[in-house]
Amino acid sequence: MSPFPFSSQDRNGSPFSSPAPITAAEYEFIRQIVYEHSRINLGPSKKELVMARLSKRLRALNLNGYSDYINMLRTPAGKDEMTNLIDSISTNHTYFFREPQHFDFLTQVVLPQFCEQDGAKRGATSGTFKVWSAATSSGEEPYTISLLLDDYFSRIRGWNWNILCTDISTRVLAKAQEGIFSKDRLGPVRPDWLQRYFDKGVGESEGFYRVKPELRRNLSFRALNLLAPSYPFRDSFQVVFLRNVMIYFDRETQEELVNKIYPLIQPGGYLIIGHAESLTNVKHPFKLVKPSIYRKA
Ligand SMILES: C[S@@+](CC[C@H](N)C(=O)[O-])C[C@H]1O[C@@H](n2cnc3c(N)ncnc32)[C@H](O)[C@@H]1O
Repeated sequence: MSPFPFSSQDRNGSPFSSPAPITAAEYEFIRQIVYEHSRINLGPSKKELVMARLSKRLRALNLNGYSDYINMLRTPAGKDEMTNLIDSISTNHTYFFREPQHFDFLTQVVLPQFCEQDGAKRGATSGTFKVWSAATSSGEEPYTISLLLDDYFSRIRGWNWNILCTDISTRVLAKAQEGIFSKDRLGPVRPDWLQRYFDKGVGESEGFYRVKPELRRNLSFRALNLLAPSYPFRDSFQVVFLRNVMIYFDRETQEELVNKIYPLIQPGGYLIIGHAESLTNVKHPFKLVKPSIYRKA
């Protein structure tokens, strides 16, 4: 097996003195601009985190302080920097088989509902099973889904499947698209699936695994701000995974978002949100199936 290349996102290790702490006015400016662009709602408790993340941007841009950074954001060049700012601020934490009940629900309830299996006339005999991973981060979520779909559809004929993977952060999306994970990230993947669905890196890629191309070709990756006024696709999905992203948004934004996603779900399809999230107090047309799982009638 030939070694596969992987990009290094190493930061240069040049010495850099810490900038002066961010002032209240500077923090407020950052807070507002982040909210306007992504609706990520940074409370006062996030000040330390913002400083830590932005100090890396200052270093990358050779700037001395937060005020220089803010001045730059106000110039035309600041428009491009917005992507980096949101990248730095957003939390991309994710892992394979996170919140496993959702994946059990997918294989035990959703797939048999849509797809005929073993002669049990529950769903259609052919078609395309479409999933949207709407805050895909570095890819652990959609690749987990891909393993399950490939395994499922290897046992029944007539079906194709694909997964649309979107995120606001182009940095994590690039990582997701590569589909390369270190061995320690793959702990929750069954050993036989690791062999079946991943190429093992050798040489300088030792310790890394790459999702096989047969699987990767069913995933498409697109940068997308969920709060954009409209989405550049018309597809409709049997399932939308919208997990661990609404936690950043206020109630109005959550309401706007789930109502915008509703028409993109096929009748009888599902919206799955994170366990720590809830649509209580949010007006929406979905039926609650069980905590964090909603269905379109
Ligand atoms: C914690 S990760 C969730 C990853 C995965 N869904 C999971 O549950 O493990 C949250 C992701 O939401 C993305 N995000 C935050 N605001 C967003 C927005 N307005 N539009 C699209 N993605 C956003 C972040 O870039 C980040 O990758």
